[in-house]
Amino acid sequence: MELPAQLRQAVDELLENTPLNTIKTAAKTLSERYRAETRDGRLHMGEDLAVKAYLATRLPATYAAVRASLDAIGETRPDWTPASLLDIGAGPGTVLWAVADAWPVLERATLLEASTAARRTGERLAGLLALPTDWKSGDATIDMAELPAADLVAAAYVLDEIVPSALPKLIERLWQLSTDTLLIVEPGTPAGWERVMAARAQLITAGAHILAPCPHQRPCPLAAPDWCHFARRVARSRLHRLAKDADVPWEDEKFVYLAATRQPVAPPGPRVLAPPRAGSGKVDLKLCGLDGQASQRLFTKRDGDAFKRARRVDWGDALID
Ligand SMILES: C[S@@+](CC[C@H](N)C(=O)[O-])C[C@H]1O[C@@H](n2cnc3c(N)ncnc32)[C@H](O)[C@@H]1O
Repeated sequence: MELPAQLRQAVDELLENTPLNTIKTAAKTLSERYRAETRDGRLHMGEDLAVKAYLATRLPATYAAVRASLDAIGETRPDWTPASLLDIGAGPGTVLWAVADAWPVLERATLLEASTAARRTGERLAGLLALPTDWKSGDATIDMAELPAADLVAAAYVLDEIVPSALPKLIERLWQLSTDTLLIVEPGTPAGWERVMAARAQLITAGAHILAPCPHQRPCPLAAPDWCHFARRVARSRLHRLAKDADVPWEDEKFVYLAATRQPVAPPGPRVLAPPRAGSGKVDLKLCGLDGQASQRLFTKRDGDAFKRARRVDWGDALID
């Protein structure tokens, strides 16, 4: 998956006069802070250079994860289109670009961002879209009172930057502001999954219906050390490769997501929870079923059409009958 061409070009222009070594050092610091889930009161993207490092090394991956999550929403509810978006911890506007790509009919967007450097960059990039956007400066754990409700509310790769004790209140507020759907995306780590599972339980208690990825409302059948996550292959730009000293022209972004809605939904089918293991005339799938159970299921040629469908699905897809 790649960034939209217009965004890719604008990002390249923003980065073109910054020396590679400067980006490299900033990217290393940023990556270390994300990996350690550092919460020292400073924003990871407080400085312009950190924002540039994010654009060069993280934006393509977080865009791919958000875009894949939107695809799952669209698959379950093909007739739904959001007219308004509220994005919390918007960074450079990743979610905005992904939503505008998935649903070009989007009419307006409000974006809350705590870092001035990230907000300025996001606002500048968003100026390229034919869509009114209202960028607000503020802390999601304090400044949510005046925000408008929206059809789609999103928080992508932001819960991990917020102190855990503030999350239940934040989730409650995000859900209040969601007139239809709330989307949470987090890094595909056990800690990211735990955060999403806590939000899932809270949202179900508040009356939400799980839209994706779970095809049921029951407790998650997985138990640590197993955890539910997905992956998207992301093309690395030349600058990204150089900044990360990477050899391969792609990376696999692992992510966890949850979409919850106010409407009851019919799940499209069991969700594929791991890369399929295919052999000659057979394919083995790890599935999360409509009955809330996780299982390993072997499909062989004898299963006829079901085998053909099982051969076509990938990790993260719904196995549609
Ligand atoms: C990892 S970035 C994610 C950006 C974007 N959502 C994406 O998926 O690429 C997290 C963003 O959340 C912002 N952020 C962190 N804590 C915040 C808070 N309490 N309120 C608002 N924004 C916050 C950070 O400044 C940063 O821009």
